[in-house]
Amino acid sequence: MHAVASLRPVPAQLAASRPVGARRCRRTFRCRARQDDVLANEPEIKLVNGAVTSGPSLAVEVNGLKLPNPFVIGSGPPGTNYAVMKKAFEEGWGAVIAKTVSLDSSKVINVTPRYAKMKSSDGKEVIGWENIELISDRPLEVMLEEFKRLKAEFPDRVLIASIMEEYNQAAWEELIERCQEAGVDAFEINFSCPHGMPERRMGMAMGQDCELLHEVCGWINAKSTIPVWAKMTPNVTDISMPARTALAAGCEGIAAINTITSVMGINLDTLRPEPCVEGHTTPGGYSSRAVKPIALAKCMSIAQMMRHDFPHSAASLSGLGGVNTGRDAAEFILLGSNTVQVCTGVMLYGYPLIKKLCGGLQAFMQQHDFASVEQFRGASLPYFTTHHELVRMQREAVEAKKKARVGLAKDDEWSGDGFVEEAESMVSN
Ligand SMILES: Cc1cc2nc3c(=O)[nH]c(=O)nc-3n(C[C@H](O)[C@H](O)[C@H](O)COP(=O)(O)O)c2cc1C
Repeated sequence: MHAVASLRPVPAQLAASRPVGARRCRRTFRCRARQDDVLANEPEIKLVNGAVTSGPSLAVEVNGLKLPNPFVIGSGPPGTNYAVMKKAFEEGWGAVIAKTVSLDSSKVINVTPRYAKMKSSDGKEVIGWENIELISDRPLEVMLEEFKRLKAEFPDRVLIASIMEEYNQAAWEELIERCQEAGVDAFEINFSCPHGMPERRMGMAMGQDCELLHEVCGWINAKSTIPVWAKMTPNVTDISMPARTALAAGCEGIAAINTITSVMGINLDTLRPEPCVEGHTTPGGYSSRAVKPIALAKCMSIAQMMRHDFPHSAASLSGLGGVNTGRDAAEFILLGSNTVQVCTGVMLYGYPLIKKLCGGLQAFMQQHDFASVEQFRGASLPYFTTHHELVRMQREAVEAKKKARVGLAKDDEWSGDGFVEEAESMVSN
């Protein structure tokens, strides 16, 4: 067996000659400049309390919640505390989903570094992002106080608590009751965190087990008096199955996707995997632009299931995964999403991104003369079918084209009776 190379320490003379953080700052600046280029051509618009001031309305109503625009802060670092959630409301985000909380934060111990990036070949653009971050490590009491304060300061804006607990009915009931008392408007249930928490049979471990999911959703919905969205993991063969289970057990909506199980890569100098903590890592969750095609496929599958199995219900879908622009969001809405969440995009571009998201979405709507988000929601869903059907449609189209063909293929097809018409059929003007 080969010995694994030890991690190389920073040479002492380099470390001494460089002011602390200097290299990091230069790199951050370079990445930021390129990231800004990515959004340079995105139209930016003015928002007042999250609402557009002219052009088609972006307002949406979902499960009785009224949002000035469909853009929601996805659970994660952008919803970790009062300061950042306040900033999100001030900048105009349609709603905020706080970082996932549980009853006992002392069990949540994070490590650093906990992020790793997939970059473009020139190293300047972030394409994918892995994290091995756990849920909130802040005491629940502190988070609840901050929820109360935010609701007092922004009574008309939607604040959603993301919650997670162990397989324990009493624990779920206590968590739900305490969050409701703090005044949150809805719950998103984290059945989907792919790392760390499944070791305690939480997060993705619950979302992958439909029997468990059904039972826990039953407890949650018997207790909750506000809307409940179940956040699904993409790390399953058929995401429509757990989504169906959650809706059948009384959830009002589905959010998809959480991160995709990933290993960002191996450092070929040290032979150690990234992100590297004491020379080791654990598989993490993948997000950002690279996951968008996968997220779209999962949302399409959930939306089709909803239309088929819950045709008369007001069940909602909150789509996410790799959204950076208003046009990205339009794609999720065209596949049936009522709202669109952004998490890593906020970590890359900051809270003012909302102005570009709304600007881009409005420009798309103006291009097609859509007056409201609801007018085009799900409009692309009918264009998905099976491969078998694609073959049938193509065969029929070819046959139709053959029939419609004008002119004569060969000289011996000329006839005496239809001579003039046959000649005319080959005239081009
Ligand atoms: C650093 C980080 C931390 C996250 N923490 C949570 C969390 O606490 N709860 C949760 O439900 N999802 C969490 N997520 C998942 C995101 O909410 C989202 O589902 C996923 O990142 C895909 O969306 P995105 O590409 O817009 O980031 C986290 C994601 C990242 C990048």
